[in-house]
Amino acid sequence: MRLPEKIHKWISDEAYRADEIGMSGSSVLIFEDKVLKIQDRSKESENEYRMMLWLQKKLPVPQVLAYEIVDQKSYLLMSKCSGKMTCEEEYMRSPEAQVKVLAEGLKKLWQVDIADCPGDWNLQNKLAAAREQVEMGLVDMDNVEPDTFGEKGFRSPEDLLQWLYDHQPKEELVLSHGDYCLPNIFGEGNGVSGYIDLGRTGIADKWCDIALCYRSLSHNYTGRYHGHAYPAYDDMLLFRELGIEPDWEKIRYYILLDEFF
Ligand SMILES: Nc1ncnc2c1ncn2[C@@H]1O[C@H](COP(=O)(O)OP(=O)(O)OP(=O)(O)O)[C@@H](O)[C@H]1O
Ligand SMILES: [Mg+2]
Repeated sequence: MRLPEKIHKWISDEAYRADEIGMSGSSVLIFEDKVLKIQDRSKESENEYRMMLWLQKKLPVPQVLAYEIVDQKSYLLMSKCSGKMTCEEEYMRSPEAQVKVLAEGLKKLWQVDIADCPGDWNLQNKLAAAREQVEMGLVDMDNVEPDTFGEKGFRSPEDLLQWLYDHQPKEELVLSHGDYCLPNIFGEGNGVSGYIDLGRTGIADKWCDIALCYRSLSHNYTGRYHGHAYPAYDDMLLFRELGIEPDWEKIRYYILLDEFF
């Protein structure tokens, strides 16, 4: 593969493996201690770079080593996170530790001062981005929750988008990861060791991340990604660890909103 010179000089001919988890059309090359994420240049790729820089020393995010845009492709070279993704076997087999990492990861996000945060994904911006996804035909209908559309659900993405515009909840603005699912959060023991995939990270309602975390736990436990279910799943564990009561209306709202991304 031909890489921009500025990137190539960091890695020369080091061996790598290509990651197979990503669903967003990006290529992720994993080296011994570095990771190279290559994706089409977009608002999200630029936001990811900007937020990763802004969060250096604030949260355990990868160190940015180099960033280049060539021919409308973005190349982000970063350090590799220590620890394991919270969807890995070690965590799937110990839900208490897993949920401690995830809850700590959320609380640490909420403690970050957002006064000069460069990413803003408040609901107006997110709804506008969802509308763009619809207009560009980018809504992935093969990757939606089973009941979102069809007989018991919405007629179409346009129909769902209108409903989301009509039912906007009041936001509690915090620093939000924006795609708070298990493969994007790394842990070491009971603590969070890395946040990655920061394309939609910025200011947003705290329930946005709670909702996607809840959905990701449930998908991983019921076997959507592992080929088998893990019977130990208790969907209240996350809320107990966070010390808050679930707001099911908001959880449903943000899971529905995420169908566009
Ligand atoms: N800095 C990193 N350290 C360790 N592993 C990483 C790092 N960056 C990416 N990975 C690995 O590559 C995977 C995909 O990366 P990332 O989530 O950034 O890409 P993506 O294409 O946006 O994924 P998706 O859209 O599926 O969430 C991660 O789940 C992780 O396994
Ligand atoms: Mg990811």
